[in-house]
Amino acid sequence: MSGDLRELISAANRAFDQAKNLDDFKSARLAHLGEKSPIALANRELGKLAPKDRAARGQEINSVKSEITTLARTREEFLITERDNRILVEEQVDVTLPTRNSQRGGLHPLTILRDDICDLFIGLGYEVAEGPELESEWLNFDALNIPADHPARTMQDTFFIEPLSSKLVLRTHTSPVQVRTMLDRKPPIYVICPGRTFRSDELDATHTPVFNQVEGLVVDRKITMAHLKGTLDHFATTMFGDGITTRLRPSFFPFTEPSAEVDIRCFVCRGESDDCRTCKGEGWVEWGGCGMVNPKVLIACGVDVDEYSGFAFGMGLERTLMFRHGISDMREIVEGDVRFTAQFGVGR
Ligand code: DAH
Repeated sequence: MSGDLRELISAANRAFDQAKNLDDFKSARLAHLGEKSPIALANRELGKLAPKDRAARGQEINSVKSEITTLARTREEFLITERDNRILVEEQVDVTLPTRNSQRGGLHPLTILRDDICDLFIGLGYEVAEGPELESEWLNFDALNIPADHPARTMQDTFFIEPLSSKLVLRTHTSPVQVRTMLDRKPPIYVICPGRTFRSDELDATHTPVFNQVEGLVVDRKITMAHLKGTLDHFATTMFGDGITTRLRPSFFPFTEPSAEVDIRCFVCRGESDDCRTCKGEGWVEWGGCGMVNPKVLIACGVDVDEYSGFAFGMGLERTLMFRHGISDMREIVEGDVRFTAQFGVGR
């Protein structure tokens, strides 16, 4: 073999040896086996040789090339193994180390419940409507046919906003969202309105001054109480389980006529125990209020009462959560202790 070719082998070998990592190796291989490498050039020079010399020189070039290729492969395998071993050491995880004990935040069970209720009604074709917590007295009371001398308006129940001439209150219920919705859009109306509400009650096992309600409102042609009852039964069964239907008990609300209290089947004894502590042997527990929207309210909101009728209902979310999960003290819901919240699956 001619000396110039032998020199190519040792030069390549030296370059491969000097490559200490795969990146360096790649450029060394390009330099000694690539298109512009000396061996490739030598191959290209073949054509310039006299035909009788070509075969021998060609064979030599081929064998040099295959030798360099073998050297390259050996070096590459070595470098790959070396890299893999290094990664194994560097990226080793000590599974015996103590974990970092940070707790993930999560949604409050009331928020989860609110979302579940909205999902349920969205599934029935309703839209979610919201209104402000700071509400005008007119929307919170007058438009709902609650007269100025109604007990709900007195100082004991309502947080009035100073100056009193502002005629603003912290809304005492979500019913003003009914009025806002009817003023805002034309029937057919199918809305569900969740939101925070306020009354000047002391915090105890069954009361909290800041609580949540969910209001439903439907205004459409030929709406009857049968639609209301069917909707409430579906709502109750979805919330509390099969067999927990509703009972309507005649009552009075200024904004509905007729009005009813909504009771649900006692979810503890299902009406089968005379000394049940939850329903006191009644078989039913009170859940919320409902009724056919009072025509006076429809008229105040510009709805044509010859063409349309509607129903409405309102429930407390805290109460619903207590029923659903057997919580006996409302303070657990408001106090924000993560040990309580965690039981409902934080991180959802
Ligand atoms: N707004 C009532 C309350 O806070 C609850 C209520 C009763 C809402 C009857 C309604 C209804 O929509 O039809 O006590």
